Amino acid sequence: MTDIDWQGLRAAATEAMRKAYVPYSEYPVGAAAFVEDGRIVAGCNTENASYGVGLCAECGLISNLAMTGGGRLAAFVCVNGAGETIMPCGRCRQLLNEHALPDMLFETVSGIRTIDEVLPDAFGPRDLEHMAG
Ligand code: THU
Repeated sequence: MTDIDWQGLRAAATEAMRKAYVPYSEYPVGAAAFVEDGRIVAGCNTENASYGVGLCAECGLISNLAMTGGGRLAAFVCVNGAGETIMPCGRCRQLLNEHALPDMLFETVSGIRTIDEVLPDAFGPRDLEHMAG
């Protein structure tokens, strides 16, 4: 996937953002990603009365990925209620990294970035393989 439809991806993220459940922060977030096969997966944040267990939009996206057939993520964008691009939080970078193509792209506040730039020297599944057996 060299020609990413960032506008289409942002539209999917914005649609997801409108479904966010955010009674506590009132900060809706929508995340969307292209999977390597071209389909789009998305998610919105869903908060909880027990504040600490609220789910970021990326959690829903990763669940959506698994539920719709899995695969690797090729491109990602995340928006807030003002339609601004925001960065995935640190925990969610780790979530995304687990399912990323090696050259996965992010539309970020500072332009298009790779997964390695967004989460350098990541700990991932290969680190566990290395120790197995
Ligand atoms: N949030 C996300 O959904 N994704 C991120 O990567 C950053 C933060 C949500 C969590 C919480 O519901 C709200 O934004 C305010 O922190």
